[in-house]
Amino acid sequence: MKMDLLLDKGLTLSWTLAIQILLATITSIIIYRRHLHPLSPIPGPPFASISRLWHIYHILKGDQNLQLVSLHKKHGHFVRLAHNEVSVSHPDAIKKILGSQLKKGPWYRMTAIPDYRFQSPMATTDPKKKMEKSKAFASGYALTNVLRSEPQLDNVISLLLGHLDGFARTGKEVGLDKYFTFTSFDVAGEILFSSQFGFLETGTDVGNAIANGYWLSMYASAMAFFYHIHVALLGNPFITWLNILPYGHLFDTAIKAMKARLQDKRDESRFDSVEYWFRAMEKHPEKIKWRDVQAVTVSTVGAASETVSCALQSFVYYMIRTPGAWERARKEVIELQEKEGGREERVVSWGQAKRLVYLQACLNEGLRMFAPVPMNLPRVVGPEGLEIGGRRFEKGSILSVNSWVMHFSDEIWGEDAGEFKPERWLREDAGELDRWFMPWGYGYNSCPGQNIARLELSKIAATLARDYDISQVNPEQEWKWQAFFTVVQHSWPCYIKARKTITNESSCKVPWR
Ligand code: HEM
Repeated sequence: MKMDLLLDKGLTLSWTLAIQILLATITSIIIYRRHLHPLSPIPGPPFASISRLWHIYHILKGDQNLQLVSLHKKHGHFVRLAHNEVSVSHPDAIKKILGSQLKKGPWYRMTAIPDYRFQSPMATTDPKKKMEKSKAFASGYALTNVLRSEPQLDNVISLLLGHLDGFARTGKEVGLDKYFTFTSFDVAGEILFSSQFGFLETGTDVGNAIANGYWLSMYASAMAFFYHIHVALLGNPFITWLNILPYGHLFDTAIKAMKARLQDKRDESRFDSVEYWFRAMEKHPEKIKWRDVQAVTVSTVGAASETVSCALQSFVYYMIRTPGAWERARKEVIELQEKEGGREERVVSWGQAKRLVYLQACLNEGLRMFAPVPMNLPRVVGPEGLEIGGRRFEKGSILSVNSWVMHFSDEIWGEDAGEFKPERWLREDAGELDRWFMPWGYGYNSCPGQNIARLELSKIAATLARDYDISQVNPEQEWKWQAFFTVVQHSWPCYIKARKTITNESSCKVPWR
């Protein structure tokens, strides 16, 4: 009996002691991070100064970008968004942080898809290794190479137009978010490995891949900060082998298309991106392995799809809400084609679309107002430290730049930073603005697909402006969106009318609803 009591007492004591030690440790961490950490003088939400959870909460809520914009307006150039990270909006931030060769922040490791063995350039945080990898894959993104696929790109865009014609005929409302996302995925498949995902062909979200992508983007943007937990849960070879990941259809289609090509079923007339990568693999087998090509292809599908859909949606949304803008863009296309021909082409050519000065200004402004990548792009300060805006940061500090914060800075863009004004890109000093325009990121990790995106966006935007009238079902209604890894807009249904200038409307025999 006595022995039992003693044991009980001992256990209670050790539990109490354990809880006391835990509380003391947590309290010391909080006090250190809040008051003694080298970043503690930087202002920001109090909870953010002690943990990453404030940031994660806003990522999951889908408003991380707006939170940071308003915090920078309140606190100025530096905001502490987590105990170990500072968001910087100083005009020198882009050049000094992203333009230097600082190591990338740890969240990039999350972009190894489907598991940690697939080390794409995006997932590689060491700048030298990342640049070396990127160099090996650069030819697959080069505009001159991708332009060889322009006829195939036109075919995909024609499928989109076929759907839009259907909606125009029936007068039913259309969710452009859905059709633009279908298009951006199918274009990515066509350009990368000459095989579409079938979204436009069937008019459906095959295998629920896009719907699942929404949750995956939410998961990835938050779990990126808990990489080891992610590896234990999903990002490991066992889960890959089980093939149960929710992006199955995207991954399977990509890998199937690539394997068919490896088995020499190559269409020699096509020079898509994987053709260049296979050739590089044959030439440098010691540098580029089959798994590297898989990693790059799959991560590029992810990088090339929701982003383009987001940018296309911004273009249409802001243009139809800005009096006179849509008509002005249309006039520009028609005037050019009256001079040079091309009106009979179902899709406006790149050769013409890239020279539409007003249209290009509108695309830029759409990308500025609604940058598709809303995450802070983090870099780790090296051993020599870094000075920016008169403030010094020591080795190991994570400094990050956010495109929304930079694009909404009154200091840089003026008091009308929050307004859609394509004309700002037509002013004499427009070249200057490029220094702070960062939808593609900046520096050694900037988007390698930006020329492909421009190609795709310019051709679709010019064709839409020329051939359709688009209006919101409820013009007063603002769209809804969430900002995870990319910004995903929705809930802005539209009516669409086809203009008489369409010459071969029936050329797209696709099902539409
Ligand atoms: C409007 C469309 C697009 C936007 C706004 C965009 C933006 C970005 C941004 C901000 C990054 C990250 C930069 C950083 O972390 O520092 C990125 C990375 C990347 N983007 Fe894009 N992107 C777009 C379209 C595309 C397209 C069409 C492709 C390919 C065909 C592509 C391929 C990639 C790849 C592969 C990466 C990873 C970077 C690397 O591994 O070097 N993107 N993009």
